[in-house]
Amino acid sequence: MKNPVPLNLLPENASISDAGELYLGGVSSLSLAQEFGTPLFVYDEEHLRRRCREVVAGFGGGAVYATKAFLCTAMARLAHEEGMRLDVATGGEYHVARAAGVPAADLVFHGNNKSLRELRIALADRVGQLVVDSFDEMDRMEELVSEGHEPPEALLRITPGVEAHTHEFVRTGQDDSKFGFTVSSGMAEEAVQRARSSGAMRLKGVHAHIGSQVFRADSFGAAVDVIAGFANGGGFEEISLGGGLGVAYVEGEEAPTIAEWVEVVRESVERNGFDGKVSVEPGRAITASAAVTLYAAGTIKHLPGIRTYVAVDGGMSDNPRPVLYGSGYETFLARDVAAPRDMAVRLVGKHCETGDVLVSDGWLPEGLEVDDIVVTPVTGAYGHSMGSNYNKVLRPAVVFVRDGEARQVVRRETYDDLLLTDVGPE
Ligand code: LLP
Repeated sequence: MKNPVPLNLLPENASISDAGELYLGGVSSLSLAQEFGTPLFVYDEEHLRRRCREVVAGFGGGAVYATKAFLCTAMARLAHEEGMRLDVATGGEYHVARAAGVPAADLVFHGNNKSLRELRIALADRVGQLVVDSFDEMDRMEELVSEGHEPPEALLRITPGVEAHTHEFVRTGQDDSKFGFTVSSGMAEEAVQRARSSGAMRLKGVHAHIGSQVFRADSFGAAVDVIAGFANGGGFEEISLGGGLGVAYVEGEEAPTIAEWVEVVRESVERNGFDGKVSVEPGRAITASAAVTLYAAGTIKHLPGIRTYVAVDGGMSDNPRPVLYGSGYETFLARDVAAPRDMAVRLVGKHCETGDVLVSDGWLPEGLEVDDIVVTPVTGAYGHSMGSNYNKVLRPAVVFVRDGEARQVVRRETYDDLLLTDVGPE
């Protein structure tokens, strides 16, 4: 037996109707499922906007949204309208952000293996900032600048020998990472020398990303010590701390707010006497709890003495996080949010493999019936963005809700979409 789903896991503008039904941004969840079909990602637009504003209030022009967490043109536009620049990590993310109308000058281009083609597009557009990750990338930039492109503003990604996990901050003696230039081996220092003498970039500062889903704000303070120390030593004007602020996914978890995170970063920057620009790149903290996924329950299988399987119409193709990382989620009924959850279930998808699990040990009310709308909250980050077409399951639609109105920002795929890239016989 489990208590009803904790309301703090729901989007800010979620409410429960007199009849007990989930409303999102003033819109009935059951009517959303009916109108747009399931599975469906529903984002609380005002929640997204508020999170963006909090980051901008803390870091001004240093506020950058990490698009990998969730990207479509509506999201790119929303973050940009709220005053954020956008972090893109591939030519694909770059393309979508540009298609949304975000000026190249407001993009920060990341990636450990940017191709010559990706770099050529970015330099031709005069991308705002490039986060340089390797000596090979410097070679490519020199080639492009020799073709006549302007040298872009650049940060060097460094591996500071510190790593933050969910609950702890670790100083690793060794830096085993595909990203960036290692500080401890002298590689970072060598990269600074090369970047300063190359003429292919205007080196402004250093960047480090210490991890994701970090629950302790003081981990960021410890990271600032290392990064600001390096930046002070090198006389840099900007440090970027990447993203990583964690969010609560299940009952009992607690994460720092954006305001608390801003405070810790500000204090540690001051303590280190760094007076340049400070940038951050949150993704998850902006989008994760802004959204829920609505699924329809299709098959309910009671295996006596074993467990009850509830199969929904999506699965690992719209949320691969449980399979990839063993991530936990809550689940509840859209028509009766406050119902006691008295039936232990395993919420699974419709893919042809046993590992296709959404909630391994979940709880739903005994009264669950076929066709009921089942909700998983906190699915706004790294769900849609890491989705796939496995088993040719169609990617879900995405809807933004606000003030009692719903607007579809990504339509559901169709069976014909599945054939778009096939090159058939003449
Ligand atoms: N900046 C850089 C350079 C990053 O590598 C990342 C995330 C971010 C910003 C944004 O981090 P966030 O604030 O979202 O934690 N797929 C995984 C998360 C991978 C994060 C990779 N880098 C997951 O679903 O948990």
